[in-house]
Amino acid sequence: MTANELREKYLEFFASKGHTIIPSASVIPRDTDASTLFTTAGMHPLVPYLLGEDHPGGKRVANVQKCVRTGDIDDVGDNRHCTFFEMMGNWSFGDYFKKEAIEWSFEFLTDPKWLGLDKNRLYVTVFKGEDGIPRDEDAIAAWQEVFAKAGMEVEVAGEDEMITGNVRIIPLGKDDNFWIAGQTGPCGGDTEMFYDMRPEEGVLAGKFGELVDGFRIMEIWNNVFMEFNKTAEGKYEKLAKPNVDTGMGVERTLAVLDGQYTVFETELFKPIFEKISEISGCGYQDSQETEKAFRIIADHVRASVFMIADGVSPLNTGAGYVLRRLIRRAVRYGKLLGIEKDFTVSVAEIVIQKFGDFYGELKKNRETIFAELKKEEEKFRKTLENGLRQFNKLSVASISGKDAFDLYQTYGFPLELTVELAKEKAIIVDEKEFELELKKHQDLSRTASAGMFKGGLQDSGEETAKLHTAAHLLLAALRQVLGDEVFQKGSNITPERLRLDFSHTEKVTPEQLKMIESLVNASIEAHLDVMHEEMTLDAARKANAMGVFESKYGETVTVYSIVDDGARIISREICGGPHAKNTGELGHFKIQKEEASSSGVRRIKAILE
Ligand code: SER
Repeated sequence: MTANELREKYLEFFASKGHTIIPSASVIPRDTDASTLFTTAGMHPLVPYLLGEDHPGGKRVANVQKCVRTGDIDDVGDNRHCTFFEMMGNWSFGDYFKKEAIEWSFEFLTDPKWLGLDKNRLYVTVFKGEDGIPRDEDAIAAWQEVFAKAGMEVEVAGEDEMITGNVRIIPLGKDDNFWIAGQTGPCGGDTEMFYDMRPEEGVLAGKFGELVDGFRIMEIWNNVFMEFNKTAEGKYEKLAKPNVDTGMGVERTLAVLDGQYTVFETELFKPIFEKISEISGCGYQDSQETEKAFRIIADHVRASVFMIADGVSPLNTGAGYVLRRLIRRAVRYGKLLGIEKDFTVSVAEIVIQKFGDFYGELKKNRETIFAELKKEEEKFRKTLENGLRQFNKLSVASISGKDAFDLYQTYGFPLELTVELAKEKAIIVDEKEFELELKKHQDLSRTASAGMFKGGLQDSGEETAKLHTAAHLLLAALRQVLGDEVFQKGSNITPERLRLDFSHTEKVTPEQLKMIESLVNASIEAHLDVMHEEMTLDAARKANAMGVFESKYGETVTVYSIVDDGARIISREICGGPHAKNTGELGHFKIQKEEASSSGVRRIKAILE
């Protein structure tokens, strides 16, 4: 089955059950939801309806939603993780509940008219109950009934989570079978469906978690029964009407239908791999390294194509930063395959061919996608070249962890690239010392961010408010020009001028100061609204807000955001305010002085004219 056929079947099935088909929302949340940078699940754009608002499509809708989850970035390369994926979902807004949802899932999966999967290879988990919420007996009963109708008597696993004999229903705790997107909002227990990937290995038996980790069974579908709204105080309030939110992974389901062991063996990735092979001269499965590199390149370029189509550009902050990281990581892995020329555009072309029919925005934004990829790849290659020059200057005998770390931090050389290059010259890299350096550095950044701005203004007059906003724009510009290692170390604002101390080891050059100034002025000239909202500290952290995070959980903070017209987050900081309402009020920003403040800390004084 092709992905196009699978999506069509899914939507057709749920249309036949009275669902309105709705299009995918953008991968960038467009509403005022500041808690995530990306749409991470099908439910994300539907939260208002899950909380009770009327959906124009009625009480039953179904869709295929584009999702981005970058928390899994380091897992990409195994057999089932992707940073971009498609989630098919059927939704009940206070309409049908567990019984129907489970019946329909079973029917769609096993009926030969639909997917025709083998019911003997199906296993399900349910919520075992925790925190005063009882075990989901309704879901257990519904599963037993559908299996019984199909002629199978199925049993429920005990506390040991062992699958033996007729056991097919495994109750699990909150970590596995309770779904919430982020910290607050609609949530509830869920039931997840798993498929036996290797029946040829004999009757399936063993501890559930070990069978998942050993890739013997793979999750393909999750039905969430949303009965609660979790408040900022951590309370679970019963929703007036419970909802159903389901999510079925297109890639994983295709793998299962194809009898494939990994999502990367599906028809979605094959043509992408062929392209990478053509460019690199390597085969996908030449070695474990090539396999990993192919998967990472394919996944990252695919994710980048979708992000750019939805309006993201590579930047040093927010969603743009994630995009930058994905493109650069793809280029680095290309380098490991020996690709020396720009290649992401050629790979993107295949992605657009493969996905452009269903997602018209890819075709429509084709030129922008190519231009952004090309620009970022070229920029990164220059950085890499400088790094290579630096590498060649290093000792011929061995490379210390400090040198490797310098290559990593200043030139964006990942450790594996340094090791690879060193190998060619038969030099050893002190990888242990590198890890120590990395850790030291991370601790330092944490301390630096802890020293940041604690709010508190001497004067809350209009001029001060404007300078306060300018200080946020300045910090964002500093990070964009000098890098993400820059953190605010202190600030002092009077109605006449602002002073900002920030971590940076070298003098900021006149050219860099010019760039910083013009970035701030560009944001001023764009007349951007300065938005603020209250959120929990945890939500602020999730939203990538800069600020002090050493406070207690559940505390509410105010987050000020400046977002450009393309929905890109220019600046997002936890702050006491007050601020200008719009950057247009600021006038003209001018840096007056740049000097050392203390060791590793620079100071900028600036005014608004
Ligand atoms: N929200 C659930 C998930 O993302 C089901 O769609 O898995």
